[in-house]
Amino acid sequence: ALVPLRILLDHAAENNYGIPAFNVNNLEQIKAIMEAAREVNSPVILQASRGARKYAGEAFLRHMVLGAVEEYPEIPIVMHQDHGNSPATCYSAIKNGFTSVMMDGSLMEDAKTPASYEYNVEVTAKVTEVAHALGVSVEGELGCLGSLETGQGDKEDGHGFEGSLSHDQLLTDPDQAADFVERTGVDALAIAIGTSHGAYKFSRKPDGAILAIDRIREIHHRLPNTHLVMHGSSSVPQDLQDIINAYGGAIPQTWGVPVAEIQEGIRNGVRKINVDTDNRLAITGAVRKALAEDTTEFDPRKFLIPSTKAMQKVCRERYIEFGSAGQA
Ligand code: G3H
Ligand code: 13P
Ligand code: NA
Ligand code: ZN
Repeated sequence: ALVPLRILLDHAAENNYGIPAFNVNNLEQIKAIMEAAREVNSPVILQASRGARKYAGEAFLRHMVLGAVEEYPEIPIVMHQDHGNSPATCYSAIKNGFTSVMMDGSLMEDAKTPASYEYNVEVTAKVTEVAHALGVSVEGELGCLGSLETGQGDKEDGHGFEGSLSHDQLLTDPDQAADFVERTGVDALAIAIGTSHGAYKFSRKPDGAILAIDRIREIHHRLPNTHLVMHGSSSVPQDLQDIINAYGGAIPQTWGVPVAEIQEGIRNGVRKINVDTDNRLAITGAVRKALAEDTTEFDPRKFLIPSTKAMQKVCRERYIEFGSAGQA
């Protein structure tokens, strides 16, 4: 069944686990996520960006998700708007059957200019009032994602801002977080603690702690009843980079968030963990490999099946690592 995000995250909080939220654009990604969930009995959060809604088309996306509900009746599914850039985007998602919306008021409507705190409170509170009246959950965001190393801010597409951001903008302030939740009534809060979107998160192999875990702990201490969300949580596994590069790709060496760091975040109150890049890497590597290994083949299913399986493997691993396996 389709359920609001709040239902799944309340259960995750009571039982101390995290749930991966995977981005979807097409049938194969939805099937990969659902098959993995069935294998390990995990609840599911499907999320679509504005770009995904445009790519698939509203009716296709809605009916594919309803298809998943019908095919996997034993699995609770959240359909979530990722990075809503305005109240209008969130309302149109609700109209299209989404059970959860993110109002990302940390950025202006252009999704690239950092917004003022008062703007963020205003748009988020407005969306929450409407969404809650309709039984839909809301995620807000406070702070700007980006590299603590370089100060390079992060648009939602993983491409950097021009100019750099201050440490204050890159780390969510616990007092402000408490005020924000009180004034907006959000169910979940995305926080900035040193992650960034896309594949190029860290320029060196992380040795030891790389996220501001203390910040997570402080925010959770101030907001024990608000579910914390970590964006930019792909781990960018070496083997997935290697497959792409072994079959004609040219991806520069990069490092993501170690799974152990995410697990430490979960122990400190993180409940929703956004992952897109790892699945993109898995799909692309498998497509490249299948096409390279049989150059006479031209049935698309011959590369779509292995690429779906490669994504399924990533999803299954994250369900197990984040602790949502066995919780559906
Ligand atoms: O945070 C963004 C997600 O990775 C989705 O990216 O806007 O390219 O669909 P997208
Ligand atoms: P990654 O780019 O690390 O997968 O993050 C995805 C994300 O945060 C989507 O909102
Ligand atoms: Na932000
Ligand atoms: Zn994000």
